[in-house]
Amino acid sequence: MLIAGNWKMHKSPAEAAEFCLALRDEEVGGVDVVVCPPYVSLAVAVQLLAGTEIAVAAQNVHWEQEGAYTGEISARMLLELGVYGTIVGHSERRQLFGETDESVAKRARAALDAGLFVIACAGETEQERERGATEEVLRRQLSMFEADDNLVIAYEPVWAIGTGKTATPELAQEAHTFIKSLVDVPVLYGGSVKPDNAADLLGQPDVDGALVGGASLELDSFTAICRAAARS
Ligand code: PGA
Repeated sequence: MLIAGNWKMHKSPAEAAEFCLALRDEEVGGVDVVVCPPYVSLAVAVQLLAGTEIAVAAQNVHWEQEGAYTGEISARMLLELGVYGTIVGHSERRQLFGETDESVAKRARAALDAGLFVIACAGETEQERERGATEEVLRRQLSMFEADDNLVIAYEPVWAIGTGKTATPELAQEAHTFIKSLVDVPVLYGGSVKPDNAADLLGQPDVDGALVGGASLELDSFTAICRAAARS
């Protein structure tokens, strides 16, 4: 069971330090825990969580090692910091920053080749679900992926992210089973995971953990979700 906290564009280095110092003292055993700070806060998180079981991952990575790619960061740079992995293909990257299935797959490939752990996100929009296209969208988004020991998929229905609308446990289970038929790797659920719905979602047989946004920013809610995961 893996619980990953996606901080998005939250927590400056000072705020990240405060959170990591507090997280270090929490009891979150029995579950793999990853935090994903923004780039500028990675170093301090790596430093403060060194020697704990909690890993640090980035929110994106470029496919080249270096070059004229203004605003991008390479896997080699992340590894030098001691970063363990990275998210790729988050729906906010796809919707707001023009990421495509191809660019996401390239980022994932380069990260895996460099030795990073990868959380690759996929999920349908509300319109896509309403017109019955969920499986078609997941198949398209994941067509360039193959199983890898360092890869997990995060199923994040776009309509459930930051909206308070969570997929029902049954609906998550159904999507996860389908994803595993495409790429046989662990599948995390993401989209408004909170302490009060975590146990039901994580209790589904094909839900192998969660990618948590909003509720990962507060220590109490994040650790409550980690504890729910440890119990399921
Ligand atoms: P949320 O975000 O938990 O705030 O819905 C999840 C995500 O975008 O990874």
